[in-house]
Amino acid sequence: MKKKIYTKKKFEKVLEHHASKMSKDKKLIKSAHKVIERADKYMYIHQTKFLGETSLNLPEDLFLIQNVIYDTRPDFVIEIGFAWGGTGLFIASILDNIGKGKLIGLDIFVPKDLKRRILNKGKISKRIKIIEGSSTHDGTFRKIQNLVNKKKVIVILDSDHTEKHVLKELTMYSKLVNKNSYIICCDTILNFIKPNQMRKRDWNKNNNPLGAVNKFLKSSKKFVIDKKINNKVLLSCNPNGFLKRVK
Ligand SMILES: C[S@@+](CC[C@H](N)C(=O)[O-])C[C@H]1O[C@@H](n2cnc3c(N)ncnc32)[C@H](O)[C@@H]1O
Repeated sequence: MKKKIYTKKKFEKVLEHHASKMSKDKKLIKSAHKVIERADKYMYIHQTKFLGETSLNLPEDLFLIQNVIYDTRPDFVIEIGFAWGGTGLFIASILDNIGKGKLIGLDIFVPKDLKRRILNKGKISKRIKIIEGSSTHDGTFRKIQNLVNKKKVIVILDSDHTEKHVLKELTMYSKLVNKNSYIICCDTILNFIKPNQMRKRDWNKNNNPLGAVNKFLKSSKKFVIDKKINNKVLLSCNPNGFLKRVK
């Protein structure tokens, strides 16, 4: 049999076509959501580690974030909700490989020992700036705004997942995102799965980041959901969470 050889461009077109078809396979998507819902009981989403530190994003989602960073080549990635630092380290190492950019990791609380470990990871640490404060506090926002100073920015929203809080973050931090760059809104999966019974939180199917995304998009015509990105993945906590600034 003659082997079909694609050019890179053609191969990417073929993949895009199949990803788009997969995104319309409702049964498959529903079963992926079910897998995430059932696995969440066992803290599946918390099991990923990068350079020794826990990331609360699934590997597929980390790779998608990497896709966007590689294509966008930002000066800053702002991760709102730094938690255990694994995602921040992953992003900083991608920036280091590209040879450009800094990760600003914001959280209301960053334990001293975590800070020490994060700032002791060699050259990757030089790409990380940790800030403590609440994302929606004016002072915190101004501090970050001054740091990024109109440079190219990607924002990742992954803190308090209530609709009200995420909508406020979207409204505030979208101002820092340049044309052709992204806001990545995490945990939109909460719209599709039953809440975890062991860890009680304020968010659920009716109060979650996807509700905030939908409201935000009604009022801002500058951003759209970049479907091509989400179409690629099945086991994702961030469906419809990649918002691209197009105007
Ligand atoms: C889901 S975790 C973040 C996970 C992390 N982005 C990752 O991928 O590993 C949520 C974090 O947001 C933080 N947080 C909650 N409310 C916040 C707020 N108003 N401002 C900043 N951080 C907040 C929490 O302390 C917690 O560490």
